[in-house]
Amino acid sequence: VDREQGQLLDLHDKAAQLYHHILLNTPAGEPARRYLQKRGMSRDLIEKFGIGFAPVQRILTPYCAQQKLDYQLMRKSGLFTEDRDGKLQDRFVERVMFPIRNAQGKVIAFSGRLLNTAQTDLPKYLNSPETPIFNKRRTLFNLDLAKKAARDDGRLYLFEGFMDVISAFGAGVENGIASMGTSFTSEQVQIINRTTKQLDICYDGDSAGQNAIDRAISLVQDHQNGHLNVQVVQLPAGVDPDEYVQQNGAAKFREYVHDQEETTTDFYLRFLRNGRNLNNQQELMTYLDAVLKEIARLDTPLAQDMYLSKLADEFKLDKAALQGQLRQFQGELH
Ligand code: CTP
Ligand code: MN
Ligand code: MN
Ligand code: MN
Ligand code: MN
Repeated sequence: VDREQGQLLDLHDKAAQLYHHILLNTPAGEPARRYLQKRGMSRDLIEKFGIGFAPVQRILTPYCAQQKLDYQLMRKSGLFTEDRDGKLQDRFVERVMFPIRNAQGKVIAFSGRLLNTAQTDLPKYLNSPETPIFNKRRTLFNLDLAKKAARDDGRLYLFEGFMDVISAFGAGVENGIASMGTSFTSEQVQIINRTTKQLDICYDGDSAGQNAIDRAISLVQDHQNGHLNVQVVQLPAGVDPDEYVQQNGAAKFREYVHDQEETTTDFYLRFLRNGRNLNNQQELMTYLDAVLKEIARLDTPLAQDMYLSKLADEFKLDKAALQGQLRQFQGELH
């Protein structure tokens, strides 16, 4: 950490404290307090994650002026926007503020959520831009706390959103992380690979979530150099982890992520059916090809045999024929 980075970390620490104070102790924080209460967020979680509020009245610019903070430092922090004359103004306005911490637990950026997304073109979540202390591709939300919990549980859970990580944490699943609004990256896979042996992908239970699971699995398979086992926890249609916790409670959520954990092959057996009519001979063949390619990736003959039996059973096929096809795909892999 060089001198400038140290100063940027200090500024972020101070900003997080200011936003947090405004949320908890001021009249300006009232709408955000009501919003978070409505979403079922406990005082404990607000404290644990240092959640705050950036009010309409800008607060960071006057604070920095009062502290006589260096203009270039302020510019580089990403906490301000710059108008045509170079004048700086608070970037985050009327947003619930989620501090983003690095692996050492220091605040390096923020994500701000609108209280109300109706009738606005503004993005629901606004993230800090890249800065000397914030590299989005290398950052995983909550990694500092999650990696401690992962030592006991032996795995990390990958969620889509910050609220999912926070609600899961409140429900006792403390080993959850999320990528930074942007899609999951190879850098993040490598960091996870150095942290744990298993990753459970638990994205939203909608079709966007399913497609993102497929992409995340492929990314891990391409970048994990053999150490990281991936599994999937597919949520019920239409809910995300945060909503699941709110609707069903902590115990049911813990039970769900535990019981519904499945292999990537099981995920693909289901996922690859989407949009295919398997009563149609041609579409069934395409499906079987795609599924056999996934089965060919498995390195245990027993698991392969199990899936072949499953397919032979369900579609009344000759297992030996499936086996022959599988061998062909395996040859292509090597
Ligand atoms: N996201 C974003 N900008 C948006 C929408 C989404 O950066 N306009 C990112 C956020 O990191 C968000 C994640 O994508 O957490 C998942 O999106 P979504 O499921 O729509 O949001 P939720 O996490 O469910 O947020 P909330 O529950 O607050 O609506
Ligand atoms: Mn989503
Ligand atoms: Mn694949
Ligand atoms: Mn969601
Ligand atoms: Mn949500």
